[in-house]
Amino acid sequence: MNRQNNTFPEGFLWGGAIAANQVEGAFDEGGKGLSTMDMIEYVPRENRSKGKILDLISKNQVDNILSNPLSEGNFPKRRGIDFYHRYKEDIKLFSEMGFKVLRLSISWPRIFPNGDESVPNEEGLKFYENVFLELKKYNIEPLVTLCHYEMPLHLATNYGGWENRKLIDFFSNYVDVVFNRYKGLVKYWLTFNEINLTTINPYIGAGILKERSTDKNVVYQALHHQFVASASAVKLGHSIDSEYKIGCMLARLENYPETCDPEDVLTALKDDQYNLFFTDVQSRGYYPGYIKNYFNENNIELTITDEDEHILKENTVDFISYSYYMTMLSSKKIDEEKKVNGNIFVGIRNPYLKNTEWGWQIDPIGLRISLNKLYDRYQKPLFIVENGLGAIDKLEEDFTVHDEYRIDYMKEHIIQMAAAIKDGVELMGYTSWGCIDLISASTSEMSKRYGFIYVDQDDFGNGTLNRYKKDSFYWYKDLIKSNGRNL
Ligand code: BG6
Repeated sequence: MNRQNNTFPEGFLWGGAIAANQVEGAFDEGGKGLSTMDMIEYVPRENRSKGKILDLISKNQVDNILSNPLSEGNFPKRRGIDFYHRYKEDIKLFSEMGFKVLRLSISWPRIFPNGDESVPNEEGLKFYENVFLELKKYNIEPLVTLCHYEMPLHLATNYGGWENRKLIDFFSNYVDVVFNRYKGLVKYWLTFNEINLTTINPYIGAGILKERSTDKNVVYQALHHQFVASASAVKLGHSIDSEYKIGCMLARLENYPETCDPEDVLTALKDDQYNLFFTDVQSRGYYPGYIKNYFNENNIELTITDEDEHILKENTVDFISYSYYMTMLSSKKIDEEKKVNGNIFVGIRNPYLKNTEWGWQIDPIGLRISLNKLYDRYQKPLFIVENGLGAIDKLEEDFTVHDEYRIDYMKEHIIQMAAAIKDGVELMGYTSWGCIDLISASTSEMSKRYGFIYVDQDDFGNGTLNRYKKDSFYWYKDLIKSNGRNL
């Protein structure tokens, strides 16, 4: 790629990111089956437990929910922001900002309602085809996540989720269908969103119900199946279209030692290895020694066949993508008082950093550090596919939103991205999270907004669903137009 004045390369993929279960709605339309995310209820503020990304869901809970009419209760992910019916309007707004790329996901149960069918749901396939064609109209490249925190509920309840090896075949079948169908319309793919979530919330990450999710063997076996499925997808994709670029996706967490006590430094190193273990497997193609040691120490014994090892080794990812929201401190001694929340992490507060309203620590320099660290380690192109500020926005009477705090946040992070590029990091693009307001993954609320576009809806589904441009909309538009030169 050509460098212009040492800043963002020509062809840099500026854009935004969304996920099917947080925007589409229409959970029971177009032949879609129930998704694991359709079981997630709104979490009122007073019930939000520290450091948990949602609760685990048990078989009883699912049965209870399904014994009631589906119209009952507050399940915001079932309604999203109605992208299913309004995608043309939304894509037009993205194009107005000059997006080069839109990261979005395919809802697996829209294509295979139960997950174990042999014939896909044509209506679901057609929906995404129409979305991709609409993007093409505006020269917006789709970046498609195959599995963003959801799967057909049936695979969780009737097969035990990813603990079951059969899931590799079901997933491969789904991937085969979409890779063939969207050849020529899509070039960039991601396999599993934040694959490290599987070990943090096995229900959302891997469809494992609460009853089985405390068993570490179960969880790491499920993760292993996902690694194999991801590598198999890379193999399949490359055989279907040599133009396909297939990446992995990690929730990145930089850990700084709390002090220069070597014990703290060692703890930070271990925490870092644990965060990077997922990408090590997907990018280097094997389980590193430190994680084998962790498995030994925790009596974790996995079934890994020779063929699995071969698939992992031969089919590493083309690029590495990750979400970046925060950093935390690591210490040999966790002091409850110093604990701080993150998206899927809990850690120790850094006195040098400020927090968002949800307690996430804001650290733009950490982004530069992570870019350097990951590039040094893997020497593969990187892609920041999530970053952004969740905040309470106020819609004024004249339908404007003055979100200078969001502009400041993004500007600071993008400055650090530019610095990392100067450091020599190969960065493909940047898709800010929730480029249009959407349902929060962790709390299922609407009040926490990330977008450049305001969506008139509250936590209970009241509102016109009208879209309004925030001040950040115009700022991002200018930034893209200048390819990041006018920071
Ligand atoms: C990431 C997820 O962890 O963080 C997204 O990939 C999510 O799906 C985002 O929405 C922000 O988290 P939250 O909980 O604020 O929606």
